[in-house]
Amino acid sequence: MRLYKLAVLVSGGGSNLQAIIDSIQSGMLHAEIALVVSDQQGAYALERAQSIGIPTAVIKKDTEALLEALRSAEVDGIILAGYLSILPKAVIAAYEGRILNIHPSLIPKYCGKGFYGIHVHRAVIEAGERESGATVHFVDEGIDTGAIILQERVAVLPKDTAESLQKRVLEIEHRILPRAIAQVFEEQEG
Ligand code: GRF
Repeated sequence: MRLYKLAVLVSGGGSNLQAIIDSIQSGMLHAEIALVVSDQQGAYALERAQSIGIPTAVIKKDTEALLEALRSAEVDGIILAGYLSILPKAVIAAYEGRILNIHPSLIPKYCGKGFYGIHVHRAVIEAGERESGATVHFVDEGIDTGAIILQERVAVLPKDTAESLQKRVLEIEHRILPRAIAQVFEEQEG
């Protein structure tokens, strides 16, 4: 099976990038991470990539540079893994239907403008929700509005803080992101 090439876009620690790397190394995904792009200089996700020889780039608000980096890496798909910038419309158009995002809530709840990272979990706790979870969805021109690919739920415990809930939701993210990538990019057997 030909390896498909992925670009992974990051902004922070890169634990979701690491989950993809681990899934490739375990043989679950027949993919190659051809490029990791961060909008933040010094993001630890960049070190995770560089430590195993994955090409990286830091690109901030520069549509042409991003398109050029993606084109020269000849990627088949783009994974937003903790990426906090809005993807330019030209990139969404160029990779329509092949861009996935991981969000730490049960979309359509607690998503959209301002709902990212710990803010999501604070809002879930403050609302007294009994459950939360994570979602992988296709990226369209909205914020967290594309078609849902995979979702997994987790109970919110009475003593949960935003931090303890985030930790449990992150574990779900690391499970469903590789599974969603396989669902979209792995050629169906047979
Ligand atoms: C986390 O808040 C995660 O829920 C969201 O992006 C943030 C950073 O994730 N998807 P990562 O560790 O950089 O992958």
